[in-house]
Amino acid sequence: MSAFIIAVDGPAASGKGTIALRLGEQYGLPVLDTGLLYRAVGVTLVRQGGDLGDEAAAAAVARRIDVRRLDDPGFRALGSGEAASRVATHPAVRDALYTLQRAFATKPGGAVIDGRDIGTVICPEAPAKLFITATPKERARRRWLQLTAAGAVTTYEEVLDDIVRRDDRDARRPNAPMRQADDAVLIDTTELTISAAADAARRIVETARARWSKAPQGTTSG
Ligand code: DC
Repeated sequence: MSAFIIAVDGPAASGKGTIALRLGEQYGLPVLDTGLLYRAVGVTLVRQGGDLGDEAAAAAVARRIDVRRLDDPGFRALGSGEAASRVATHPAVRDALYTLQRAFATKPGGAVIDGRDIGTVICPEAPAKLFITATPKERARRRWLQLTAAGAVTTYEEVLDDIVRRDDRDARRPNAPMRQADDAVLIDTTELTISAAADAARRIVETARARWSKAPQGTTSG
C-alpha cells in the first residue's frame, strides 16, 4: 500500500504546526515542519555573514541541512521567519530542500508534512490535504503572544507587519507560491480553539483515510 501522506499548508501562525503535530500523534506518523528547513537556511546564512539575496550561497547552505538537527532555538527566534521567507524565493534553495522533503514524505507508512507548497508541489499525490488559515490580525496576536512568552521584545504591530509582508512574498513568488491545492480542504481557525481546529482536521483526515484505504493503488490523490 502507498504511504499515507498528510499535507498541511497555510500561512504563518495559522495553527498548521499544532494541527500537524496532533495528527502525527493520532496516526503514529513522523511530522516534518518544512518552515523550519527554510528558517535553518536563512539563519545559518546570516550567521555565516552571507547575504539573503545570494541564491548560490543560500543553496549551498540548503544542501547541507540535516533534518535531525533542527532543534536550534535560533531557528524560531524573531527575524528568522523573514530570513526564511527571503531564502525561500530562490529556486535553487527550493530544489535542494525538495529532495530532503520527498525522502521524508515517502517513508514507508507515511508522514505528516506542513508548509506552504506541500499539497501543490512537494506531495501533490497526498491522499489527505488541508489548508489552514486565520485572519492576519488573529495570527499576529497568536505569534506575538508566543514570541513575548519566549522573552522576545516586540510589539503586536511589528508582528502584524511581518506576517502581512511574509504572506505577500510567500504567495506572490513565481516558484512554488503558497496556495491552497484544488483538492485541499480549508479550515479557518480564526474563531476556533486549538482542540476544535484539531478535531475539524481529524474529521477531514478520517474521511480521506477511509477513501485512501479503499482506493486501488495509484489512484489515491484527492
Ligand atoms: O511555516 P514558517 O512560518 O516557519 O515558514 C517560514 C518561511 O519559510 C515562510 O514565510 C515561507 C517559507 N516556507 C516556504 O516557502 N515553503 C514551505 N514549504 C515552508 C516554509
